[in-house]
Amino acid sequence: MPQPDYDELIASTKDHSWLSHNPYTDRNDPQQLSIAVRGEGCYIFDHEGKQYLDATGSSHCSAVGHGRQEIADAVSKQIHALEFSGSGLVPFINAPSAKLSQKLADLCPGSLNRVFYTLSGSEAVEAALKIARQYHAQTGNPKKYKVLYRNYAHHGYTWGAMSVSGDPAIRSKIFEPTVPMGVMVPEANPFRCLHCSKTCNLGCARSIEETIKYEDPDSIAAIIVEPISKMAVVPPPEYWEMVVSLCRKNNILLIADEVVTAFGRTGKWFAVNHWNIVPDLMVLGKTLGAGYMPIGAVIGTEEIYKVFLGSPEKTLIQSHTLGNHPVVNAAALANLEIIENEGLVERSASLGPYFKSQLETLNKHQITGDIRSIGLLAQIDLIKDHNTKEPFGGSIEGRQLTRFMVDNGLYMRCSGHSLNIHPSLIITKDQIDFMVDVFDKTLTYAEQELLTK
Ligand SMILES: Cc1ncc(COP(=O)(O)O)c(C=O)c1O
Repeated sequence: MPQPDYDELIASTKDHSWLSHNPYTDRNDPQQLSIAVRGEGCYIFDHEGKQYLDATGSSHCSAVGHGRQEIADAVSKQIHALEFSGSGLVPFINAPSAKLSQKLADLCPGSLNRVFYTLSGSEAVEAALKIARQYHAQTGNPKKYKVLYRNYAHHGYTWGAMSVSGDPAIRSKIFEPTVPMGVMVPEANPFRCLHCSKTCNLGCARSIEETIKYEDPDSIAAIIVEPISKMAVVPPPEYWEMVVSLCRKNNILLIADEVVTAFGRTGKWFAVNHWNIVPDLMVLGKTLGAGYMPIGAVIGTEEIYKVFLGSPEKTLIQSHTLGNHPVVNAAALANLEIIENEGLVERSASLGPYFKSQLETLNKHQITGDIRSIGLLAQIDLIKDHNTKEPFGGSIEGRQLTRFMVDNGLYMRCSGHSLNIHPSLIITKDQIDFMVDVFDKTLTYAEQELLTK
């Protein structure tokens, strides 16, 4: 086969593509772009054949690694049989969807067993928000419309999801007013806690209680939270017990966003399993399709689902033409089967302590603020000063550190103020060692070249 003209591909990307997170796409921009052409296990190979260890698990998606034949076969088989036959208006179902829903119902805790499919995490969040509103409207509480969300949380870039996200990186004055439903409550992050001095007295959870009273419980439909945030923040003990009890007491639906944490990332099938919580709605995304296919889903409990039964007017008013897609569902099902058959959830739990101890060697660096990790999810907060905890840098420093890691064979990104680490669950100890070695060199480079400037 003739080789593609890679220089031409990069030039035409710079000319025509509108890439997210990427200010490099102008022909005059000197920034170097590579083409990812192949993947195998934990490695990505570029157009020059150079190998990179993927520390990002393809943007949080992958448990099973790159190049899995089983998923390629499942996708190919379904495309050859039937690629798609419509969005369900004609009463036909598809077999992969039936099997995937059964599998998810088996895996999810409690009575979470009704699956609504989307094509991304953001759309799944949108669907969860609408389910919550429609549920309350159909149970005699039409005035319940507000949604509590936590500071720094990221639930997606679409308008509704953004309106319940506290991540400053995606909120901008340009998009004000956002959908008037979001009410922010504090995150539960011991490293940057604003509520308790020295010892934790659950100020973050008590602040949610105060907000509920202030806003009026009869106006609050739901709270959306990541049980363990993608920044690897594990809330203090007793936090979840308090939040769940506040929800039950005030008829507020608990929406657990497990777009990042589901399917073994934190050492359990779902992050909620660490506390035996059964949310009313669980949102899935990235990890469900492992990056092989775009998919999201909301899973509701039987109690929620029943409210949508009985007459056409009660049906959920939400649909995506390509949601519940047979090819996408076949890929997700094959992904879950690999996770199960290869014991990857258990692998994440058992490798977690080694991963943590290796990362903790980086505490020797002056700019290391906090290192958090659980299972194979970790974050290192980079700071300038241990007293003020001022973040190390912004996007300019982030780009320099990203380039340094890539040049050293690590497929990894730095935001400038943190390293968010989530390799595939098939990673080996040797690969963890390589990754930590590159972080070590990167932090040294940051301290020597960027800290004083
Ligand atoms: C926790 C969480 N929820 C939802 C989303 C949105 O998912 P998507 O980017 O697939 O729309 C993200 C994306 O990063 C996420 O991290």
